[in-house]
Amino acid sequence: MSTSEFDALNRQHALPGKLAFGPGPGGLAVAVVNNSHASAIIALQGAHVMTWTPHGQQPVIWLSRAAAFAPGKSIRGGVPICWPWFGPHPSDAKLPGHGFARTVPWEVVESRSLRDDRTVLVLRLAETEATRKQWPHATPVEAHITVGTTLEMELVTHNNGSAPVTIGDALHTYFEVSDIREVKIHGLGGCPYLDKVDGGSRKQQQGPVTIGSEVDRVYLDSTADCLIEDPRWRRRIRVSKRGSRSSVVWNPWTEKAAKMGDFGTRGYLNMVCVESTNAAEDVVNIGPGGEHRLWVRYAVEPLS
Ligand code: BG6
Repeated sequence: MSTSEFDALNRQHALPGKLAFGPGPGGLAVAVVNNSHASAIIALQGAHVMTWTPHGQQPVIWLSRAAAFAPGKSIRGGVPICWPWFGPHPSDAKLPGHGFARTVPWEVVESRSLRDDRTVLVLRLAETEATRKQWPHATPVEAHITVGTTLEMELVTHNNGSAPVTIGDALHTYFEVSDIREVKIHGLGGCPYLDKVDGGSRKQQQGPVTIGSEVDRVYLDSTADCLIEDPRWRRRIRVSKRGSRSSVVWNPWTEKAAKMGDFGTRGYLNMVCVESTNAAEDVVNIGPGGEHRLWVRYAVEPLS
């Protein structure tokens, strides 16, 4: 984006002292939010929340120190938006995993300050010939991002076409933790899950999830809050959601992380993905004129 394009964007959508647009790492266009509650950086590519830190807290969102920032490349960390499918495309292996939303530009639709000083930014995926080639459906999608002491995100998909469409989606959030080996994830006990590290076999979660090796699971029938309990930082991150009946828990551990090349050497120790998804058999059918809303709220709570 050129200086004059940033100027135009700032004239229309900057909120003095709270929200400004400018070049970020790798030259990617970013929105920088800083209000009385928190700071956040959001890349316009992918509507990708890269950081969110309530004032006085450790970062809540993990961003890899080795992340690459380049047009068309997904950022390792933050909150990638997976849309309009999750994981591999159901029938065409040539299409990108987790869809294309995270690697294309989104446009700014609206920005505003709420009365309580939270900051709202609304972005819409910019449709192009390339996106239409991969997804020939009239389904505009928006991301509503609200930055405060909590982070709220809502992914809204409209079906403007005359036929039903089926989508998968996810807010594929990387959370920052002090040391993954000490963390417990509550809220998934009793849920069936597909264990991708064990050939996709179906299992059932007993008690909290703990991680000491590669974990890649799609939890089904998961609608309750997930709590990421981090004793060393004496906090838990509460993940609340609507419009999602599955959750993915992922940590690549040593070997996978090393292969990925953008994880950093010890990055896997400080992160866990707890993703609010419509994944695997949990897909969403949207009728003509209908919409689907995937909503999440992340909140940091002290551990007593
Ligand atoms: C998770 C998947 O959601 O995303 C994993 O369950 C995958 O299988 C991970 O490895 C990261 O995906 P990507 O495409 O960002 O490397």
